[in-house]
Amino acid sequence: MSVEVYIPEEKIKSRIKELGEQITKDYNGEEVVIIAVLNGSFVFCSDLIRQIKCPVIVEFVGASSYGEGVESSGNVKITMDLKRDILGKHVLVVEDIVDTGLTLSNLLEVFKSRKPKSIKLASFLFKPARLKHPVPINYLGFEIEDKFVIGYGLDYGGKYRELPYVGVYKG
Ligand code: IMP
Ligand code: MG
Repeated sequence: MSVEVYIPEEKIKSRIKELGEQITKDYNGEEVVIIAVLNGSFVFCSDLIRQIKCPVIVEFVGASSYGEGVESSGNVKITMDLKRDILGKHVLVVEDIVDTGLTLSNLLEVFKSRKPKSIKLASFLFKPARLKHPVPINYLGFEIEDKFVIGYGLDYGGKYRELPYVGVYKG
């Protein structure tokens, strides 16, 4: 297999620093519950929280969508739920990539129904070419072309998450 570097490590580092600064400014010292969507976002999330200078609580959620045939919201299966209540909390959902938007649009509806004080989304990548379920991305790392990418948490068949850069899989 060969991998072509698509977003180099240094570029990722500096973008995450910028995102952290913006988030720090926006939450202005208030506590924020960061929800990392497993598995892909764990790398992005761990680098991002270290650039946020506000009190944070980190939670994890596992989710799988029922598939493209399902159009209405609320059709996400939570395979691992949060360990704490988000009622009245500032919530920042952290995702690796918004592709069709299905997972996130469903997940955001589920979390909104739990009445957080606010809810925002940070996504490392966004692939607009395939978007079917629009979601508001408040903090975006990079917009990318319609390519299947791996590395920096993103996988192909469970592999390559450990790559420090984002690459395009060449088979
Ligand atoms: P959705 O289509 O927006 O619901 O995205 C669902 C999930 O598909 C994402 O959270 C990723 O885990 C995965 N995914 C989408 N595009 C890619 C890609 O280019 N590389 C690796 N995983 C991807
Ligand atoms: Mg994912």
